[in-house]
Amino acid sequence: MNVMKDLPIGFIDSGYGGLTVVKQSLKQLPNESIIYLGDNARCPYGPRSMEEVKDYIWQLTRFLLKKGIKMLVIACNTGTAAALEEIRQTLDIPVVGVIHPGSRAAIERTENNHIGVIGTQGTIASNLYERVMKDKADYLQVTSVACPSFVQLVEDHQLNSPLAWQQVRESLSAFDQTGIDTLVMGCTHYPHLKPLIQAVMGQGVTLIDSGVETLNEVSMLLDYFGLSRSAKDAQIQPPSQHFYTTGDAKQFAQFVTAWLEQAEPSIGQCQIEGDEILEVSHRNAE
Ligand code: DGL
Repeated sequence: MNVMKDLPIGFIDSGYGGLTVVKQSLKQLPNESIIYLGDNARCPYGPRSMEEVKDYIWQLTRFLLKKGIKMLVIACNTGTAAALEEIRQTLDIPVVGVIHPGSRAAIERTENNHIGVIGTQGTIASNLYERVMKDKADYLQVTSVACPSFVQLVEDHQLNSPLAWQQVRESLSAFDQTGIDTLVMGCTHYPHLKPLIQAVMGQGVTLIDSGVETLNEVSMLLDYFGLSRSAKDAQIQPPSQHFYTTGDAKQFAQFVTAWLEQAEPSIGQCQIEGDEILEVSHRNAE
């Protein structure tokens, strides 16, 4: 028996963004357990240097490794740009980022070969989306725009407020007259604002949610490595979901309840001490 199989999939992000990826995990892989750590206390990562983001991503990774995971999903574009390669080379479990899956999907869906990318300052400055896409298909035209205000809107639970509409309209006006037909939401926080982004861009623009695409890759890799849990496995040992935050556990619970429709989520309160993340208390643990 493969004992690794029953371990959870680990997800990390600077805050609430990775929950858009978790939502897909619950839909596409309902037999899998998940464990999530959001670094809300230090969100946003977007304006920080790549070195600092890499350090933080390693701290989050070490926390989940101690809990035990069979696969790590860096459910954060900024973190993927900063740390995916190094973490992948170091760990002996599969490590998945969110930039390559989103890039592949955009190449597949565009019809006029002109793709837009929105992300944090860090992700856009890294130019990784454009490099990945053009390495695969150099005939593409890619227009990238940083939308720094979007992450704070999500962290403040402003998903449909007048301020949210105003900022989404203002930021996306950068695409006026560009003629893109596909837009990659290159930050996992952004799908929380998807209805606004779609309304502003219009139905003629296809939105790519890197969370959806990433789960396709996760699902494929679990099968490839023989790590998938079946419906029968789930009957014997039901899947669990545990969330951790370095921010406010109560607010995190409210967000999880609203976004993932979980009545009483299990939330661990974490604290940052030096370069370690420690669990200090837990709500609704089994
Ligand atoms: N959700 C993250 C991303 O995908 C990070 C946002 C931030 O902390 O700036 O880039």
